[in-house]
Amino acid sequence: MSVQQAYNTWAATYNTDTNATRDLDGQITRTLLAGQHYHSILELGVGTGKNTSFFAQIGDRVVSVDFSSEMIKQASAKSYGKTPLFILADLTNDWPCAESSVNLVTCNLILEHIADLDGFFVKAHAALAMGGQFFISELHPFKQYQGKKAVYQHQGEKHEILAFVHHVSDFVKAGEGAGFTLRHLGEWWDEADRQTPPRLISFLFEKR
Ligand SMILES: C[S@@+](CC[C@H](N)C(=O)[O-])C[C@H]1O[C@@H](n2cnc3c(N)ncnc32)[C@H](O)[C@@H]1O
Repeated sequence: MSVQQAYNTWAATYNTDTNATRDLDGQITRTLLAGQHYHSILELGVGTGKNTSFFAQIGDRVVSVDFSSEMIKQASAKSYGKTPLFILADLTNDWPCAESSVNLVTCNLILEHIADLDGFFVKAHAALAMGGQFFISELHPFKQYQGKKAVYQHQGEKHEILAFVHHVSDFVKAGEGAGFTLRHLGEWWDEADRQTPPRLISFLFEKR
């Protein structure tokens, strides 16, 4: 099953499934970007809109993109402080935004499904205005080395979604190669679980 089909199926239960990765991502995104304000935010892989309400608080304008129509349907059904623009698009193709038009690009739990990390960073750099920021929160590669990936239950069966491993150095190199400066790298554990590999990794890159 394609990644797109998998998320179309998962959409109905994505919000209600037990999912520590989803929940921790929501927490750290709010922690790391608290107090920031952006004129224009481009949210990549919006899913069911878990983080969109927060982005609507810190951004004057939010454009949220996903290639799963069912995920977008879930996201559009929620109410937000201001109305984000939801766009159905495959982010491995051209992005639905003008060059240098965005002040924050966000990726939450999407890059494991993107094979060409370098190309993705180049597109993020092109979308951002000078000084704009690229925020990333993803499943930590250390977890991927242990075989963890996005997985959901449907009709009593477990389904794994196609995922690519991106090493920590891949993110750093992709950022440098595209013309970003790395402003932050964070590693995040489940509460009281710091003796195990971190669950999430976060980055904040700045366009220079
Ligand atoms: C694990 S969900 C994360 C959703 C949301 N960002 C969150 O943190 O809850 C990954 C999302 O990325 C989307 N996605 C994956 N590959 C994509 C692509 N090539 N183009 C657009 N969306 C994509 C999926 O449809 C899915 O909604």
